[in-house]
Amino acid sequence: MERVALTPDLAMSRNSMFADADGGPGAALPSFDATTLRGAFGRFATGLTVVTAASEDGPVGITANSFSSVSLDPPLVLWSIARSSRRFDAFAGARFQAIHILGAGQIDLSRRFFRDGRDFAGLDTEPGLGGVPLIKGALALLECEIVSRMDCGDHLVLIGHVRAMETSDGEPLVFAAGRYGTLAAFAS
Ligand SMILES: Cc1cc2nc3c(=O)[nH]c(=O)nc-3n(C[C@H](O)[C@H](O)[C@H](O)COP(=O)(O)O)c2cc1C
Repeated sequence: MERVALTPDLAMSRNSMFADADGGPGAALPSFDATTLRGAFGRFATGLTVVTAASEDGPVGITANSFSSVSLDPPLVLWSIARSSRRFDAFAGARFQAIHILGAGQIDLSRRFFRDGRDFAGLDTEPGLGGVPLIKGALALLECEIVSRMDCGDHLVLIGHVRAMETSDGEPLVFAAGRYGTLAAFAS
């Protein structure tokens, strides 16, 4: 396993949180590039979601694997949107958002909202809380009210309070190391 040291910026935030003796803030350390960092993050296998919202320009969707459950009581979840995204304003400002947890058969839906946030053509939808488009067929659907937003580097973290939900049985869609898969495929 190859070790790559923290950049000075990350080292500074680490040192400010966990004061220790191995060098003060700003200690000169070698840096690594975004590709290396992305490669490390990508080794964490996730599920996949499509998040939808209603915006001034109509329905909007995005494929996101930054989703995480946070709290059962109250029921809170989070996901994060890249500041560089053309869909940023639509999601950053949306009070209600629907998080669709994708099943193994929904790679096409993931690809659709990876490419284009406005392409709802031919999808079976109905309006949810706040007029948010709910797409039929997800493994789980969480209708959320965004109760907190947190600036985090090049992303904005959105915390959602789950106001309504639906689940169905099935196998989840899995994403790791830049590839789609299923739990069965990863286990073999
Ligand atoms: C597997 C996967 C996971 C993604 N997760 C996120 C995410 O959590 N947050 C995000 O802002 N974009 C995420 N994206 C990127 C968006 O789906 C989309 O491709 C991007 O917003 C396109 O740029 P645009 O919004 O400027 O059109 C992900 C893409 C893929 C393929």
